[in-house]
Amino acid sequence: MAQPARETERIVLGLSGSSALPVGLRLLEVLLSTPGVELHTVFTEGARQVARNEFGLELDDLSRLRERLGISEIRAVAWQHHREDDLGAPISSGSFGVRKMVVAPCSMGTLAAIANGMSDNLLERAADVVLKERGLLVLVPREAPLSLIHLENMVRVARAGGVILPPVLTFYHQPEESSRAMVDFIVGKVLDLMAIEHQLYRRWGY
Ligand SMILES: Cc1cc2nc3c(=O)[nH]c(=O)nc-3n(C[C@H](O)[C@H](O)[C@H](O)COP(=O)(O)O)c2cc1C
Repeated sequence: MAQPARETERIVLGLSGSSALPVGLRLLEVLLSTPGVELHTVFTEGARQVARNEFGLELDDLSRLRERLGISEIRAVAWQHHREDDLGAPISSGSFGVRKMVVAPCSMGTLAAIANGMSDNLLERAADVVLKERGLLVLVPREAPLSLIHLENMVRVARAGGVILPPVLTFYHQPEESSRAMVDFIVGKVLDLMAIEHQLYRRWGY
């Protein structure tokens, strides 16, 4: 039976362990302030470790995290955070109806797991589900340089319908003043793919 049309949109945001955590955290901030979004988040142990090492941040302390990100008001319809070992969470099933997911940042470990359908944790399983249901899966992988194994895993995901959006440096919007502009450019690109309006970067020609 077809699902009834929904006003809200279920989106999964996964954070894994690589050194582009500000992109994932900014996405969290923007999605939580977007009306109509029902946000589901899942963080890997790798993400927690990078957050601790690089930012002195405990990702699982959600109220502290909100404080650090300056999120005073949540305008999203709902926010459900899931543990990575909770493979019984609703986002583990295709019937729950998630059609958009972004993994930002995406470590090479998580990329490899998704590329090979491992589904060993909730993030990997949710990504697998979005691919099999022909939804939109956006990966923001960060590693440099890339080995042939990394590149081939990206090709596998792209062949399966995923979108690979690396946080590649760009200078056309003259971001000299801050790394925030670089982060916002990448976050804006992810939101473009998900058809969510934003003003995070100035479009070419405007
Ligand atoms: C401080 C720190 C920075 C890291 N940066 C990266 C990175 O930029 N890219 C990457 O692929 N892995 C990076 N790693 C390694 C991954 O976090 C590690 O392979 C981890 O097992 C990935 O697990 P996950 O994919 O489940 O998060 C980093 C690890 C640490 C501790």
